[in-house]
Amino acid sequence: MIKRTHHCGELSDKNDGQTVSLTGWIQTRRDHGGLVFIDLWDKHGITQVVLNPQIDDNAHQAAQSLRNNFVIGITGHVRLRPDGMINNQLATGKIEVYVEALEILNESKTPPFSVWDENDVQEGTRLLYRYLDLRDEKMQRNLNLRYQITRTVRNVLHEKGFTEIETPMLTRSTPEGARDYLVPSRVNPQKFYALPQSPQLFKQILMVSGMDRYFQIVKCFRDEDLRQDRQPEFTQIDMELSFIDEETLFPLVEEMIATIYKETRDITVGTPFPIIKYQDAIDRYGSDKPDLRFDLEIVDLGDVLEGCGFKVFAETLKSGGQVRALCAKKSTSVLSRKVLDDLTEIAKTYGAKGMAWIKVNEDGLQSPIIKFFEQPMLDAMIKKMGAEVGDTILFSADQPKVVADALGHLRLALGKQLGLIDEKAIKLAWVTEFPLLEYDPEEKRYIAMHHPFTSPLPEDVDKFETDPGGIRARAYDLVLNGNEIGGGSIRIHDQKMQAKMFQLLGIGEKEANGKFGFLLEALQYGAPPHGGIAFGLDRIAMILAGADSIRDVIAFPKTQKATCQMTQAPSDIDPRQMKELKLKFDLS
Ligand code: AMO
Ligand code: AMP
Repeated sequence: MIKRTHHCGELSDKNDGQTVSLTGWIQTRRDHGGLVFIDLWDKHGITQVVLNPQIDDNAHQAAQSLRNNFVIGITGHVRLRPDGMINNQLATGKIEVYVEALEILNESKTPPFSVWDENDVQEGTRLLYRYLDLRDEKMQRNLNLRYQITRTVRNVLHEKGFTEIETPMLTRSTPEGARDYLVPSRVNPQKFYALPQSPQLFKQILMVSGMDRYFQIVKCFRDEDLRQDRQPEFTQIDMELSFIDEETLFPLVEEMIATIYKETRDITVGTPFPIIKYQDAIDRYGSDKPDLRFDLEIVDLGDVLEGCGFKVFAETLKSGGQVRALCAKKSTSVLSRKVLDDLTEIAKTYGAKGMAWIKVNEDGLQSPIIKFFEQPMLDAMIKKMGAEVGDTILFSADQPKVVADALGHLRLALGKQLGLIDEKAIKLAWVTEFPLLEYDPEEKRYIAMHHPFTSPLPEDVDKFETDPGGIRARAYDLVLNGNEIGGGSIRIHDQKMQAKMFQLLGIGEKEANGKFGFLLEALQYGAPPHGGIAFGLDRIAMILAGADSIRDVIAFPKTQKATCQMTQAPSDIDPRQMKELKLKFDLS
C-alpha cells in the first residue's frame, strides 16, 4: 500500500521537484482528453494531481475507472503549475503532483449528494449519511473548533488547579427540571437507573471529599422538547469549587471564556463582563438572557398613563398590571401595516392581547389609539419614550410576565427587522440574583428556579415564611449575544438549610431522604462552602462557529424528534431482552 509522505494541504512551491506520496479521496475528476486532473482531498486540504493515461495500458485503465469519492494513493513528483493555472485560493495552488504510480485503496458508491458542495441538501439526508456530511469543509471546521475549545478549557482549568473527574452515567435522577432518560436494571428487576441530567449531586459531594476544584467535560441527558439550541444529549463543561464566592468564580470563568475566544478566533474579549441583576434584565430587555448587541430598552409608562382614556391601558394599570413600550428608532417606513400586524402576532404568541402602536410622522402622530388620549398625556408619553419623527412606539399592557415576554420577543424581532444587530459583536454578561423559586400553577407549589441546592441571598432568608416568591438566589447565568451559555450557583452547604429548602419545595422529609439522602448525609460531614457553574459546550461551539443550530457542531446529533437518522435509534428491542429485564409493554 502506498504510504503517504505528506497530507493534501501541505505541498507548496518549496517542494518543487520532490517525489512524494499522497493518499485521500477524489473530490473532483476532470478528464481533459490527454490528461486527467484530480483534486485529491483529505482533512488538511486539496492537492491537484495529474494523471497521464497515455503512459501505458495500466495507467489508461486506472484513469478510466476512477470515480469521485474513490480512495486512492499516488506517488509522483511535484511540479509548478504553468502560469495561468495557479490557484491562489488554495494553499497548494501553486503546484500539482504528476502521478507515476497509482493505487486504488477503495472504491465508493455514488453518494446521494455532492459531498463537498451540499448547499441545497436537506438536513434529514445529511444526518442519514452523516459520515459523508462530515467531509464537508464546514463540518470539519466546526468539529475541529469544538475540539480546540475543549483543549483550551482543559489547559486553562489545569493551570487553575482543577482536577478532571468522571462521575457515573448510570445513576439516580438529578432534579434539573427535565424528564429523565431511564435505563432498566437487569440484575435488579423493576429498578431503573437515570442517565444524569447533570453531575450536580456528585460534584457537590466531591467538594465534601476535599477535591477543591473539579471539572468535567461531560454528557448530560434531558428528555425535553427540542429546539435549535437543545439536544436530548448534550455536553457540559461542568465545574465546582470549594471556598469560593461570586467574586472569585466570575473572574476565573471570564478568563476561561476569554482564552477560548483568543485561542480559537484570535479575538480579545474585554473583562470583567458586566453584571445585570435578573429583575433589571427583565425590566429593561424583557428577558433573562438579553441580547446586548443592540440597545432598544423597554420603558415603563405606568406613571405617565395612569387614568388615561384608553380603557385597555387604564384598566390594566388599575388591576396592578403594567403598560410598557419600546421606541423603535427610524422605523416608520419599515414598519408597514403588514409588518405591524406580524409583530402583533408575535406579541400574541407570548400571551399579549394586542400590540398598540404610535408612529411619529412628519405631519403628526399616527395610531389607532391616539384618539383616546389628551394632548398633554401624549406629549408626556412621547417625551418619556424619547420618540422623534421617524420613530414608532410599540405598547404592551398586561400582567408583568406577559409584558416582559411580549416586549422581550418584539425587541428581538425589531432587532432583526431593523438591522440593529451587529453580527460581529460579542456581548457577554452575567445575569445574577435570580428568584430562588418559581410558582408552578399546575402543581400549586413552588419549584426551584435553578435547582434545590442553590443558596438564597443571606439578606432574603427571613422571607422563607413570609414571601417565598420574593427570595433571591445566589444563582447566575452567563449570557452571550442573547444565548444562555452557562448557569450555576453558590450552593447550600448547611444540611439544616438544605432540609428547609426541601420543605419549602413541598418535598417531605421522607421523599428528600429517599431521593437525596446521600447528599443530606454528606453535607453533615464537613461540607465546605462551595459553588460552581456548567456551560453548554454545544452552544458555545455553535456561537463561535456562527452556526444556526447546535446540530452543526455535534458529530452525530439527534433530530427534533430525538431520533438518530443514521442508526435509527431509538429502535425496537428483542423480546428476549424484554424478558431478561422483566419488562412488558402496556399499549392500552
Ligand atoms: P443548567 O441546567 O443551566 O445548569 O445547564 C447548564 C448549561 O447547559 C446548557 N444546556 C443545554 N445545551 C444543549 N441542550 C440542552 N438540552 C441543554 N440544557 C442545558 C446550557 C446551560 O446554560 N447543574 C447545573 C449547573 C450548576 O449549577 O453548576 C446545570 O446543569 O448552556
Ligand atoms: P382595540 O380597542 O381592542 O381595537 O385595540 C386598539 C389597539 O390596542 C390595537 O392595536 C390592539 O392591538 C391594541 N391592544 C389591545 N390590547 C392590548 C394590550 N393588552 N396591550 C397593548 N396593546 C393592546
